[in-house]
Amino acid sequence: MLSRRLFLEQLAGAGATAGLRPSLAAQAEQGLRAIAARRGIVYGCAAATYEFKYADFSAALAREAGMLSAEYEMKRAALEPTRGAYDFSGGDSLLAFARQHGMAFRGHTLVWHHSNPPWLADALQSPKAEVLLTDYIAAIAGHYKGRIASWDVVNEVIQPSDGRSDGLRDTMWLKRFGPEYIDTAFHAARQADPRAMLVYNDWGCELGAPENDRFRAVTLEFLSNALARGIPIQALGMQGHLSAFGTQVDQKKLRAFLDAVREMGLKIIVTEHDVDDSGGSSDIAIRDRAVADACRRFLDVMLDNPATIAVLTWGLSDRFLDPPGWRDKLSGRYPRMLPLDRDCKRKPMWAAMAKAFA
Ligand code: G3I
Repeated sequence: MLSRRLFLEQLAGAGATAGLRPSLAAQAEQGLRAIAARRGIVYGCAAATYEFKYADFSAALAREAGMLSAEYEMKRAALEPTRGAYDFSGGDSLLAFARQHGMAFRGHTLVWHHSNPPWLADALQSPKAEVLLTDYIAAIAGHYKGRIASWDVVNEVIQPSDGRSDGLRDTMWLKRFGPEYIDTAFHAARQADPRAMLVYNDWGCELGAPENDRFRAVTLEFLSNALARGIPIQALGMQGHLSAFGTQVDQKKLRAFLDAVREMGLKIIVTEHDVDDSGGSSDIAIRDRAVADACRRFLDVMLDNPATIAVLTWGLSDRFLDPPGWRDKLSGRYPRMLPLDRDCKRKPMWAAMAKAFA
């Protein structure tokens, strides 16, 4: 399958030294990308171009990541701020960094109910509005054709609490076009880029609460029906946003879910992993340990399933987690959700990931 061959080529690119048995010292120097590549897994992270102005961060990113995803610069609000006038500067800068450092590159995301430009909602009410979906996907996926390992074609379209019998999220896309917009989006993406792996990306299947049981059931039904309709979905993207002190992963439930996804012939990508450390102790050592433990319990199950081909964290360093609103209201502290701390030093979460990959 072309897209799989492309992905494996990029996997090899990402872990070019994978075949070598580095010395222990070199191993310690190597980042998560090399450790993961030895197991045939691509490790990467989301990034934004404003982060590149920090030389220490850019060096850490080049060392640790074998794949990049755009945290926000490849969403429609950034790509098409004015109807028909595309701004690829952010995405192209991220792609350039990835290529410069032998990294694969993911596309996030073509269709979402957030991060759309202000003009879109009104435009959707016009007749023949379907071109707002098909022309956009053709333009974006066409621009990056052949350079994207995998596209999050549609993002977060399931929400059982919206009350629909099919469990779909009642978004402006669903209201305007009905559920078929999902079929349209995937077929348009496949036509625009025959080689990219096409991914359905969502959150809600990771944890062990009753609402997650419902989310998993709806997701399996959605994927099974989509494949039966001939929608070219090749992978499930599981965002992997966890909580250190809240609801935890139920490893047994997660394992059974992943087996069912694999039995459909789908690959699995952890697309946005991080561990929210708010709400518990304010002691940093306790928070870091709890984050690492939650990460390890999750990745051990994810990586046990041969369908899992890549793991990305939603950022690499805690440094960029402090825009207003993210601070813990109780203590005014900054989040510690990612593998590297604000000084780009490795944390217990980094070690937990290295052990899970190894
Ligand atoms: O637009 C400004 C830009 O001009 C400025 O240079 C830059 C640096 O300050 O900030 C930009 O602002 C915001 C950006 O986050 C900062 O990273 C954007 O306006 C804002 O929309 C953007 O929010 C992103 C959000 O998705 C909406 O796109 C978050 O970074 C990103 O973490 C979040 O990610 C989502 C996934 O896409 C889907 N899954 C959930 C996940 C977390 O909410």
